[in-house]
Amino acid sequence: MKVNLNYKNVLKFISEEQIIANEQETLKAKDILLSKKGAGNDFLGWINYPLNYDKEEFAKIKKAAKQIREDSDVLVVIGIGGSYLGAKAIIESLSRYFKNDDDLEVLFVGNNLSATYIKELLEYLNKKDFSINVISKSGTTTEPAIAFRLFKNLLVEKYGIHASKRIYATTDKEKGALRMLASSEGYETFIVPDDIGGRYSWLTAVGLLPVCASGIDIDELMKGARMACEECQNTNYLQNAALLYASIRNLLVKKGKSIEVLVSYEPKLTYLSEWWKQLYGESEGKDHKGLFPTSLIYSTDLHSMGQYIQDGQRLMFETVLNIITPAKDITLQKEVNNLDGLNYLDGFNLDGVAKKAMQGTILAHVDGGVPNLVLEIEKLDESTLGYLLYFFMFACGVSGYMLGVNPFNQPGVEDYKKNMFALLGKPGFEELRKKLLERL
Ligand code: PA5
Repeated sequence: MKVNLNYKNVLKFISEEQIIANEQETLKAKDILLSKKGAGNDFLGWINYPLNYDKEEFAKIKKAAKQIREDSDVLVVIGIGGSYLGAKAIIESLSRYFKNDDDLEVLFVGNNLSATYIKELLEYLNKKDFSINVISKSGTTTEPAIAFRLFKNLLVEKYGIHASKRIYATTDKEKGALRMLASSEGYETFIVPDDIGGRYSWLTAVGLLPVCASGIDIDELMKGARMACEECQNTNYLQNAALLYASIRNLLVKKGKSIEVLVSYEPKLTYLSEWWKQLYGESEGKDHKGLFPTSLIYSTDLHSMGQYIQDGQRLMFETVLNIITPAKDITLQKEVNNLDGLNYLDGFNLDGVAKKAMQGTILAHVDGGVPNLVLEIEKLDESTLGYLLYFFMFACGVSGYMLGVNPFNQPGVEDYKKNMFALLGKPGFEELRKKLLERL
């Protein structure tokens, strides 16, 4: 498979025999997922989506992305949770750290309520040509809805009657306030399929329009996802990295582990980790179960959180995402006076140093009582990333069913929303408002 799982460094904590013996339980969960017999089975549209996606919508995405690149300096993407994290993760993973002047900038808003962030972005856009992609499956989520109102007004101030030509709405095919607004104002629209939840939706227009507008090859991304779809579903247990990952995570839960730390040595993967955290946190964190997913970027975080990982409470295991070949590298060279004492690294590539840091850290953390898994990919490109994202979703579905939860709902997200509506005085929440005010 295009993702390889190295589990050698969990074998001090669970045995090879336990992993082998977990096959039936893992295959049972896989069967529940693929036969669509489990809880949440009306949200499994993503499973074969890389094989049967809507080709017309795909072509429409490419056309809209081209238009955006032609007439805008900035694409403002408005959405929260699953409606922005996939796109942000893919764009950050595959783009240059330092942009060229003529690159389209993709900026995200509507995922926080920082008045300062929003005001500063409005000011920044005053001097730019921009378009908006507003993304909300329900069409009613407060944070993006407020942001859309504000940024739409700026667009109207700048472009008058032509503003609606610069708005692309990704939402439900018929329901919700955003769908009504789009129909009444004549925005170009893209559909979030009914049977695909937010955190599984990056391979629909939700992720693909911003990603394609940023210049990333979405054909290659889908090609990778398609390959993962075929391999994750059809490879035998002991050769199947997705099934083994799901299986071992659940064995570690039974061993008392409650935290999984996703580790990377590539800061470009920071938002991939954020997407992964939502995927696993929202899929498994229910009924008082589930590993708490967190993430660290090394070496940076070895100098802040390294102490805790080495020697704090023994709650966690690490999953290291290792890119075998970096996109770029630098060779270190000898200097005549060697005043910094680094000449012993003569001929080392910088990535070679990073790999030694990784190996040394893995061994130290294992010695400190932290089981370690390594997920290896050959390189970071479109098809590998498409593969990896699908791989994580498939493993998550299997892992959630092994844990005994519904991996496709998120009832807990609603509670804060109700309280916020009540405290803001939204009609229909008067009783709750009274109760909450007594507690504040
Ligand atoms: O995964 C999820 O379901 C959530 O993160 C949603 O994507 C998020 O709450 C945004 O919802 P909506 O797209 O309906 O605005």
